[in-house]
Amino acid sequence: MLTDRGLPAAVRDVAGRSPVPVDVDLPLAARLPTGVEVTAYYVVSEALANVAKHSRATRATVSGRVRGGALLLEIHDDGRGGADPAGGTGLTGLADRLAVVGGRLSLSSPAGGPTRMRVEIPCAW
Ligand SMILES: Nc1ncnc2c1ncn2[C@@H]1O[C@H](COP(=O)(O)OP(=O)(O)OP(=O)(O)O)[C@@H](O)[C@H]1O
Ligand SMILES: [Mg+2]
Repeated sequence: MLTDRGLPAAVRDVAGRSPVPVDVDLPLAARLPTGVEVTAYYVVSEALANVAKHSRATRATVSGRVRGGALLLEIHDDGRGGADPAGGTGLTGLADRLAVVGGRLSLSSPAGGPTRMRVEIPCAW
């Protein structure tokens, strides 16, 4: 799916399988380098898995844009908050994987919610 149809279609596919309804706003005009698409897909998959498992959210959104030579992704849910990388291996795995490609992850998830994950993936590497 990702290889054949690209990131927006692949993200819509994962979003469509989420038990929590997800709005996708990912208007990408062109294909991105394969490594960027694969990394982004991995981020969205883990983030939405976390929404389903932990958030008790009623809705989530995935949005993304290319700006300044990087793909900026944001995954938001209206759930209970409290996401903590120390609590599992998924979030630290994402941070490690992003570090390898010069990317960044920032997480805002106060107790009571909402949870917002922002990820930056450089497009030239
Ligand atoms: N969207 C979210 N809303 C609320 N809590 C979250 C959310 N995402 C993560 N968490 C909390 O942060 C913890 C760490 O998440 P992380 O993804 O690292 O581990 P995990 O999902 O528990 O296990 P795995 O290693 O399988 O990913 C979770 O156990 C959960 O308590
Ligand atoms: Mg997880």
